[in-house]
Amino acid sequence: MVTGKVVGAELSWLDALYREELLDLANGLGLGTFEPSADERSAINVNVLPPGSEYEWHVDSNPVTALLFGTDQPAGTGGELVFRPDPVTRPTEDWELAVVPRAGDLLLFDGREAAHSVRPVRGATERLTVPMNFYFAGAGVTRPDDLDRYLYGE
Ligand SMILES: [Fe+2]
Repeated sequence: MVTGKVVGAELSWLDALYREELLDLANGLGLGTFEPSADERSAINVNVLPPGSEYEWHVDSNPVTALLFGTDQPAGTGGELVFRPDPVTRPTEDWELAVVPRAGDLLLFDGREAAHSVRPVRGATERLTVPMNFYFAGAGVTRPDDLDRYLYGE
């Protein structure tokens, strides 16, 4: 896990992509006016999942996440990003959507009521993604404590 502090210091082109072009893209969705996260550590991350690892089910606190896939996970090698209705806020819905990572693809989603997880990476290669969080302008940043403990440790 490469945190936003490191991305800002070492990967300025990626940080600029998040704060400029992708912010414009989010603002063009017609869903409101967004701003990059004020929480430097979690605003933009580079996530590397080694073979054998996965990512647990959760919902997001931010209204728009932009996820850039950095690696291909060929069919049958796991690592799919899977969405399903959050059982707390959408208990009557029953559906599942699996997204197969393809390097260069960009996915924008609202993960507040669509729970999501990453299936175990079964291939021989790492799975790399760049999640970028946007919040409604002026609304501040809210993050559950247990999420940051899960992502970054104590
Ligand atoms: Fe998420």
